[in-house]
Amino acid sequence: MKNITKDNLTDTVKSSFRRIDDERTRHLVNRLVHHLHAFATETQLSHEEWREGIAFLHRAAEISSPSRSEFTLMSDVLGLSSLVDLLAARPGATEGSVLGPFHTRGSPWMTSGANLIKNNPGQAVLIRGRVTDVQGQPLTQASIDFWQNADNGMYWQMDDSQPQDNLRCQIQVLSDGSFELATLRPQPYLVPTDGPVGELLGVSHRDAWRPAHFHIIVEAPGYRSLITEVFDDADPWVDKDAVFGVRASLVRPFKPESDAATAARLGLPEHYLVVDLPIRLAIQD
Ligand SMILES: [Fe+2]
Repeated sequence: MKNITKDNLTDTVKSSFRRIDDERTRHLVNRLVHHLHAFATETQLSHEEWREGIAFLHRAAEISSPSRSEFTLMSDVLGLSSLVDLLAARPGATEGSVLGPFHTRGSPWMTSGANLIKNNPGQAVLIRGRVTDVQGQPLTQASIDFWQNADNGMYWQMDDSQPQDNLRCQIQVLSDGSFELATLRPQPYLVPTDGPVGELLGVSHRDAWRPAHFHIIVEAPGYRSLITEVFDDADPWVDKDAVFGVRASLVRPFKPESDAATAARLGLPEHYLVVDLPIRLAIQD
């Protein structure tokens, strides 16, 4: 019989996981136990506080669904998602940012130059970009998964007034790595506050606003996939993102332009905004 004490408990628990076959998983579980126990010891966690923590997780599970992950949002507002993004950064590559809860696989495939505006109200924007490696060589096989919210601040998944797949698409870049996309100026929005994460923000007197942004995932064979966001530099919330996703390099000007030939070619109004978006991918490790 092993006599479990405060002094041998942590090592005993760690040891109980020593037969996990995968080395990396074994290491992660070991360090998770280590830091969880250190947290409880350092804070002298009480029974009541432990029960409230468990109840918080229960409430997160209850409000989660296939289209809403309260746990992802929890990770976001705690800065964990951004930390993982920053740890994954590679020199010279475009910086990553949070995936957010509104990415859905299987967006419709369109070609470069597609126009997503359709019947949506809002300010027209032309995104002009090029996908290259960190030396600036075009990645001709790159593809882009794009999604954003509508002028009312909502993504199509949360808004019955929007058609399915509104303001999202996948495109393949052209033979020089370039792409164009006609869309709308995105809007700032509130992260959901009707769950336990909202309670946490409330008691912390924290804002739930996210600054206006586009979401993109960029992939190319042999290169590290990039999950990131592009922010509107005119948005006042850009300095106070509830999920810590803003990086200076991802904040872009939305510049007014009115080139008649471009407008005609892409189905844009006479006056539109342009966002230039160079994207650099790091080679796969
Ligand atoms: Fe978003």
